[in-house]
Amino acid sequence: MRLGTRVTVVTTVLVAAVLAATGFAALQVRRADLEADLSREAREIAAALRAGLEPLEAEGATETLEWRAYSARENNELFQLEILRVGDEKRTDDPAWLLLMQGAEIEDAPVGRIFDSAKAKGARSFAMAVPLYDAAGLELPRRHPARKAVAIMGMRRDASFIGAELTATARRIFPLYVAVVLLVAGVVSFALRRTAVLPLRRLLEGIDAVGEGDLSRVILVQRDDEIGTIAGRFNAMTGSLRDAREDGRRGAEARLALEARLRQSEKLATIGQMAAEIAHEVGTPLNVIGGRARTISKIIARQSNPQRDDGSGELVPNPSAEIVKNAGIIGGEVERITKIIRQVLDFSRQRGPTITRVRVPSIAAEAVGFVAEATRRQGITVEIAPAPAELPDIPGDPDQIQQVCLNLLMNAIHAMPTGGTLRLGVERVVRRKGGLDLAAPAEYVTLEISDSGAGIPEAHRDRIFEPFFTTRDEGQGTGLGLAVSNGIVKDHDGWIEVDSGEGRGAVFRVYLPTGNALAPSAFDTGRGLRPVRPQPDVALAAADPMGKD
Ligand SMILES: Nc1ncnc2c1ncn2[C@@H]1O[C@H](COP(=O)(O)OP(=O)(O)O)[C@@H](O)[C@H]1O
Ligand SMILES: [Mg+2]
Repeated sequence: MRLGTRVTVVTTVLVAAVLAATGFAALQVRRADLEADLSREAREIAAALRAGLEPLEAEGATETLEWRAYSARENNELFQLEILRVGDEKRTDDPAWLLLMQGAEIEDAPVGRIFDSAKAKGARSFAMAVPLYDAAGLELPRRHPARKAVAIMGMRRDASFIGAELTATARRIFPLYVAVVLLVAGVVSFALRRTAVLPLRRLLEGIDAVGEGDLSRVILVQRDDEIGTIAGRFNAMTGSLRDAREDGRRGAEARLALEARLRQSEKLATIGQMAAEIAHEVGTPLNVIGGRARTISKIIARQSNPQRDDGSGELVPNPSAEIVKNAGIIGGEVERITKIIRQVLDFSRQRGPTITRVRVPSIAAEAVGFVAEATRRQGITVEIAPAPAELPDIPGDPDQIQQVCLNLLMNAIHAMPTGGTLRLGVERVVRRKGGLDLAAPAEYVTLEISDSGAGIPEAHRDRIFEPFFTTRDEGQGTGLGLAVSNGIVKDHDGWIEVDSGEGRGAVFRVYLPTGNALAPSAFDTGRGLRPVRPQPDVALAAADPMGKD
């Protein structure tokens, strides 16, 4: 049984029992009152009877009494009269009457009481024996040995009206009794519900929620009783659980990040080792091959004409020209292999940047100069947005920044084999570091390089910074350009954002912190925030001196 029901039932049963006992006692008191009334009335009537009949002389007593009894019957008086004894002649053998007669003679006065009828069950009657005296008897004081009643009259009245009246009273108060009991039950149940059952239920819900892992609940804070105290303890407990869980989560995240970094550095260490070996084993023979190829082409070019007379008077191509050409190809390829090895070495070397002040626009312009030949060959238009006048320098390694710039430019050029537009812009922005909502806003210089090439498919977007991830043909790409660039930018406390989709070109944005302290309101008010995109209308075409060959 539930607590509320149990307490309600117990209280109601108790109240019902107390009320029933009180009612019963009240009915008993009422019965005693009614019986007392009845006997007082009987005594008065007996006094009247005596006054009417005394002094009763022995002669003619029987007739007088019979007549009186007759008249009581005829007049339907309240008490019916009966002659119990006249002189020495007893006129009844009813034991009840005999008992009363005895009492009356001993008492020397009327004696009456209520009898349960022997015949009808539950029927009761009041009977009284009234001794009557003659003149001589009346002279004597009460209980004088010589004083003897001439006759004894019996008075009798049906007393079942008392029982009937009590039953009627009980019937009248019973509905009231039921109503009071129900009211008590209702009030107790309602009060319990408000003060205990509902709060306990909410407490239970809170505990269940904790069981299911929801630690966000705060319950019953406003109560100041025991339940409120329990709720307070409960809230404190969920609070500390919450903190513990948060700590655990942060710990796990930190551990995961550390593991990732460890894995990465292991990978780098392996690559580094490999690269060093390759450089050692391959580098020297490559130098020799490259040097020899250059020497061959130089010697042959010096010694012979590109064309010669084959004796028939016509000029035919000199076979040594083929040698020069092939030696050139060998030299070019050797250079390419050397470059790849150098990139691998760069990637694995893990050296920190040598920090000086870097003017990003100048470095970018220089890089564009390096790739001018490729852009011209592929018919790519280069647009460089003018840098803002108040652009700050950044602390960094100019060579490394330039390498980043070159890698991004080369990727853009590779993405547009049949021409397109390459845009380059440098801006100053104030913002929070990507992914860190809690980081304080800081000032950054952004380098944005965008192309109108094929773009990066969704599926590749997450992988392009992975070492050795490349979509270019076998032997074309190393898959290290972006990995190296990302490493460098991270070393500078910055990051790279990519915005691209299949068929709509790619935008690479490099964020490099200036390290300058900010005016406190600069971010909130939006002052100092500049759009990152270069404005094409003010952009310069490839005719810009920086873009020239
Ligand atoms: N501007 C770009 N447009 C389209 N794809 C790009 C661009 N830049 C990089 N990518 C993709 O990212 C890959 C990895 O680039 P990178 O690390 O420089 O290696 P690689 O250039 O040697 O392939 C490229 O193979 C290419 O699929
Ligand atoms: Mg590349």
